[in-house]
Amino acid sequence: MTTYNNIVILTGAGISAESGLGTFRDKDGLWTKYDLNDVATPEGFQRDPVMVHQFYNARRKNLLSAKANDGHYALAQLERQSRGTVWVVTQNIDNLHEQAGTTNLIHMHGELLKSRCATCGYIDTKTQDIGTDTACPVCTKTGVIRPHVVWFGEMPLYMDDIAERLTLCDLFISIGTSGSVYPASGFVMEALRAGAHTVELNLEPSDGESLFAEKIYGPATQVVPAYVKKLLSA
Ligand code: APR
Repeated sequence: MTTYNNIVILTGAGISAESGLGTFRDKDGLWTKYDLNDVATPEGFQRDPVMVHQFYNARRKNLLSAKANDGHYALAQLERQSRGTVWVVTQNIDNLHEQAGTTNLIHMHGELLKSRCATCGYIDTKTQDIGTDTACPVCTKTGVIRPHVVWFGEMPLYMDDIAERLTLCDLFISIGTSGSVYPASGFVMEALRAGAHTVELNLEPSDGESLFAEKIYGPATQVVPAYVKKLLSA
């Protein structure tokens, strides 16, 4: 097994599925119960902020009792023990990678446990419910606080940082994502251009399955620790 110097790992909802947090596009996924245009777009928030706050307040409550699983812990172990650098770029807005001990972490779609003031931009840690009456602790305005989450039609966060890491990577691992949402679904192409070895660890083949040199299918709590063990024994 080759040893790698710069490992970039993209994760999606599938790595948190076994922690009890829903995915989006599986058979009983979140987008089968809610219209994403209502709860995950700026227009939806404009139309009905109360309903959007209720949607994220319920997901935040669910997250507060969720625990990281063996897939998250294996990636934190890889960061600690790998001779090379390891970065996790997650599409997930949960904090399970942090719970497991990952520190080199980029939340490209924002974080459920944070809120943002639309007026002054202040980003606050949030575990309680947010509502239209929540005041910004800095500019004191109300009706301007939103979840610090990237909605469809908005630019994901830290894209320059991610692009730089992808150009340097020699191993790209995609875990628990359907590969159906851009720009994350295009990261494997950037990794291939950098000459990286590309690996898909997922419950089933993703939309981008043909772009991966190596593919291992199964639950993240099984396939991720097994792959990390292989990497660390090289
Ligand atoms: N282990 C590994 N993979 C799993 C597991 C599991 N236990 N359970 C489900 N999966 C896989 C599914 O097979 C699917 O390919 O995880 C993937 C989940 O896909 P999606 O529900 O589309 O989630 P994701 O790819 O993270 O969505 C990307 O879309 O709605 C937006 O912002 C949202 O970040 C999200 C983005």
